[in-house]
Amino acid sequence: ISLMYSASDEIQPTAKIMHGDKGGFVTLSCNYSGSPYNLQWYRQYPRSAPKFLLLTTVSSNPSVVNATPPYPHLSIKLNKERTRLDLEISSADVTDSSLYYCALQPTVTGN
Ligand SMILES: *[C@@H]1O[C@H](CO)[C@@H](O)[C@H](O)[C@H]1NC(C)=O
Repeated sequence: ISLMYSASDEIQPTAKIMHGDKGGFVTLSCNYSGSPYNLQWYRQYPRSAPKFLLLTTVSSNPSVVNATPPYPHLSIKLNKERTRLDLEISSADVTDSSLYYCALQPTVTGN
């Protein structure tokens, strides 16, 4: 899923489907462009609303905000070039098999 808020702030998954081995390490990635205020990950199980996982601000010194309580085994990363958002799932479990969304909050006032 990609959410587009303006001509400059866009986000798009690099792959529609990712597989990993149980107990292994899986990275989900989204490319983004523009200068969003923050970048977010959500997870949605069937017949449930999407749940916030964690977000990171986009700056030279990004700060991360976790869900309360935080999800173990999940971490959020930006690449050095500030073009890609990653969600790293360590010790992947069957319960991690789900639909994930990346999203952004633009810096310009708005939604
Ligand atoms: C994501 O960015 C990489 C590096 O710029 C590029 O090779 C790839 O095609 C992009 N993928 C999508 C889905 O935009």
